[in-house]
Amino acid sequence: MKAIGIFYGSSTGYTKKIAERIKAYLEPGLIEIYDVKYAKKQDIEKYDNIILGSSTWGKGILQTDFERFLYNVLKFSDLRNKKIAIFGTGDSITYPESFVDAIGIIFEALKGKGVKFVGEFPTNGYQFKSSLSIFGDKFVGLPLDNDSEEEQNKLRIAIWADILKTNMN
Ligand SMILES: Cc1cc2nc3c(=O)[nH]c(=O)nc-3n(C[C@H](O)[C@H](O)[C@H](O)COP(=O)(O)O)c2cc1C
Repeated sequence: MKAIGIFYGSSTGYTKKIAERIKAYLEPGLIEIYDVKYAKKQDIEKYDNIILGSSTWGKGILQTDFERFLYNVLKFSDLRNKKIAIFGTGDSITYPESFVDAIGIIFEALKGKGVKFVGEFPTNGYQFKSSLSIFGDKFVGLPLDNDSEEEQNKLRIAIWADILKTNMN
């Protein structure tokens, strides 16, 4: 597998923690983690394999730093033929109608840029009313719910890491 860049936006540190955990489940030596607050076009363009992660705020909006990164950096980056996987953190009990919307917002914004998306995830076991992150019958990335047991999140990350190992370059 080639190198992977993980780019996260995090307001209270949870998404950052998840980024570090995802790194541990992949091949840590091949992975570099970037806070999108400081990431530049050159940082993203050097990877063929990219993981993007954002929490959802408001009622269905991107984490502030990630929003800036998406519209000021990612939109202007050459992402053709890159494999991109998305994860999102959220809270399905307090925000059941906009659960992990960030995943879907990122997906929609990058569609049409020649990206190859990987890392879809089944909806089984999640409790929520609606989410912009579902296309067809799956999430277009990995949702991690604050309200799930720690063990369940770890298991989901482990399963997702295996999916990425199979589908990334
Ligand atoms: C004011 C506020 C609004 C939120 N809105 C949503 C939401 O619409 N959908 C969702 O799934 N989670 C929502 N959340 C939950 C956060 O996404 C969750 O706590 C996340 O883990 C924060 O990650 P971070 O610390 O990395 O930014 C909200 C949390 C707060 C405090």
